Amino acid sequence: MRDALGGIESVLVLGGASDLALATIDELAKERTRTVVLAGRDPAKLEAAAERVRRAGATDVEVIAFDATAIDDHERVIADVWARHPDLDLVLLAFGVLGSQSDFDEDPASGAQAAIANYAGAVSSGLAVAQHLRAQAHGTLAVITSVAGERARADNFVYGSTKAGLDAFAQGLGDHLAGSGASVLVVRPGFVRTAMTEGMPDGPMATTADAVARDIVAGLKRGAHTVWSPAKLRWVFAVLKVLPRPIWRKLAAAR
Ligand SMILES: NC(=O)c1ccc[n+]([C@@H]2O[C@H](COP(=O)([O-])OP(=O)(O)OC[C@H]3O[C@@H](n4cnc5c(N)ncnc54)[C@H](OP(=O)(O)O)[C@@H]3O)[C@@H](O)[C@H]2O)c1
Repeated sequence: MRDALGGIESVLVLGGASDLALATIDELAKERTRTVVLAGRDPAKLEAAAERVRRAGATDVEVIAFDATAIDDHERVIADVWARHPDLDLVLLAFGVLGSQSDFDEDPASGAQAAIANYAGAVSSGLAVAQHLRAQAHGTLAVITSVAGERARADNFVYGSTKAGLDAFAQGLGDHLAGSGASVLVVRPGFVRTAMTEGMPDGPMATTADAVARDIVAGLKRGAHTVWSPAKLRWVFAVLKVLPRPIWRKLAAAR
């Protein structure tokens, strides 16, 4: 339950070992956050993440098994969390796979697996979270989408398409919950130096997990429905989205 000052006390992270999520918890724990549930698929990474979260100042830290592709389990997993923590202030949906377009080209089923993790898994877990947020009449679901969903690039269009679907889902869910007391924050980062992008050359306007975390927390504080990180990407993509396709293809190929 948010405290009297509106501070976020309790958080569930879906994709609990995500660098972006952990940087966000670091930032939140500087203020009021003390209860953190980290849900993910790799127990060793989750334990390391739990240690980091404790060092950041959280006192009630739990790790639970969660696989984004196990969509039939999500309602139960989320209900179990709420049974133990009946008043969660924030759910951060941070899981995702980038994959490689050339691998997807060679193995189409692996492209669909990425879509199940990034999109279908977010629909099943996001809807399950929404049931509880609506019932408690407060709380925010923050969904990390990506600017990659704003306009799919040839060299990672499967990933981009999953993020476009995820972003539309999150926006629609936010509209659906309007007036219920619950809300959705859509987070659209650009290129961020995290485990997901390790070894890759920086993309344009590359940023850090800490900087994105600060943008997310600022967005939560002001009750925003959308956060771009860095903020100027909003205007960059307003232009990129309407570029004629031949120019877009040339730009994307030049990267
Ligand atoms: N880094 C960027 O440039 C960037 C930009 C825009 C958006 N994003 C998005 O931000 C989110 C967080 O990414 P990140 O940068 O923090 O990278 P990250 O550290 O690699 O985090 C991604 C997390 O997703 C988890 N995950 C993947 N598949 C899963 C599954 N089937 N079930 C449960 N968890 C699963 C991973 O778990 P494992 O550790 O077990 O693999 C990992 O903890 C992702 O949705 C990503 O698409 C990232």
